[in-house]
Amino acid sequence: MTDITTGKTAKLDIEGKVIELPIVEGTEQERGVDISNLRAATGYITLDDGYGNTGSCQSSVTFIDGDKGILRYRGIPIEELAEKSTFVETAYLLIYGHLPTKAEFQRFSQLLTQNENLHEDMKYHFEGFPSTAHPMAILSSMINASGCFYPGLLEQTRRDEFAVHAARLISQVRTIAAFSYRKSRGMPIIYPKPTYKYTANFLHMLFSDVYQDYELRPEVVHALDLIFVLHADHEQNCSTSTVRMVASAQANLFASTAAGVCALWGPLHGGANQAVIEMLSDIHRSGDNGSRFIAAAKEKGSGKKLMGFGHRVYKNYDPRARIIKKACDKLLAALNINDPLLGIAKRLEEGALSDPYFVERKLYPNVDFYSGIIMRALNIPTEMFTVLFAIGRMPGWIAHFKEIQDDTKARIYRPRQIYVGPPLNHYVPIEERRVG
Ligand code: ACO
Repeated sequence: MTDITTGKTAKLDIEGKVIELPIVEGTEQERGVDISNLRAATGYITLDDGYGNTGSCQSSVTFIDGDKGILRYRGIPIEELAEKSTFVETAYLLIYGHLPTKAEFQRFSQLLTQNENLHEDMKYHFEGFPSTAHPMAILSSMINASGCFYPGLLEQTRRDEFAVHAARLISQVRTIAAFSYRKSRGMPIIYPKPTYKYTANFLHMLFSDVYQDYELRPEVVHALDLIFVLHADHEQNCSTSTVRMVASAQANLFASTAAGVCALWGPLHGGANQAVIEMLSDIHRSGDNGSRFIAAAKEKGSGKKLMGFGHRVYKNYDPRARIIKKACDKLLAALNINDPLLGIAKRLEEGALSDPYFVERKLYPNVDFYSGIIMRALNIPTEMFTVLFAIGRMPGWIAHFKEIQDDTKARIYRPRQIYVGPPLNHYVPIEERRVG
């Protein structure tokens, strides 16, 4: 772990007892108070509902400045990666901490290709799901099932195998996603083609026919690759924290990331991209120009939220949303698509950004607001949107898993609580219990 102490301290006065807590500072001058010894020194813990003020770890993967709308992977601005990099290169950057040399990139790409096929027996596992199963449930189960085929995975000491397992997971998550889509539609499975690059191969497995390959249009491949790049990491969000939590118990890479998929599924997290399209479609069907929905989203009891808006960390425009919005305009123009949902989304954005409710709360479009419209243009079915998010996020999860595995001082994650249940009371035999 990097030494982040500054030599400065903060004083805390608890019921007359004053203790000094070290002030720590990260590379980008983010400051924190190190409370690691608080309980030992005072008997107190901190209470931070939703962890809004809690730094759970030191990490060198991704930097976000939510007030300024900055996102960097390993120090490189997301705008530069979006313009110049590819998903595979970005995955390497996140996991290994630097942009690959030609030889490193070649080796990494080879590992991805060599490990793209699932074990043949995995095919039978897909049969067990009902056709209505959500692809995120299938994805999470299948990642865990896939891990069972590699016994070395269970031994934490086999760090020499990390590179192969990491590549296998990045490659296979895409194969599993495509197979589960084909199964859900009753279509035959299409195997990956070793000559295709990562994102083209995914589109091939999703959309090719047995006797006719899907026509790969460069703008389509590029748009999807960009979506993967933009989703590749986002520091300690809900799913990544879940992966780190599971990894901290020394669970294996496949088990840890399968847990991340479950967290990502939630509509307040990755599931929001699906929820945005459902919201826009409802607005379209109802003939609302967006203003009725905005009014409902502001009303607490309505049960409605402007999906794709707001973020725990960004109190400014999410830089990924800015990039996606531009890409969305470009792709729809290139494919000659006129999607009425794009018009509704833009009207909602305009309405919200000039409405005091959203302005005062600093609620801006997040990554999910426009990404669904791109995915619709690519003919990706709505229920697969969050699966695509998971494919994109896999390198980030792996990078965070590696950070925990490489930290010789890592401890199991185990928060505390303030108990508010009943005080001590005693077991009552069933015949003596009173109704109500
Ligand atoms: N629509 C309407 N009001 C909102 C929205 C929204 N999308 N988001 C937040 N608010 C309001 C809250 O009701 C709250 O109002 P109050 O102060 O009057 O009580 C205030 O803004 C602060 O919101 P919190 O819920 O405290 O913000 P929090 O940081 O806990 O939640 C979250 C962030 C979950 C992203 C929230 O903004 C939300 O639910 N957005 C919609 C779902 C969404 O788009 N999720 C994707 C996030 S990005 C990602 O995970 C990839």
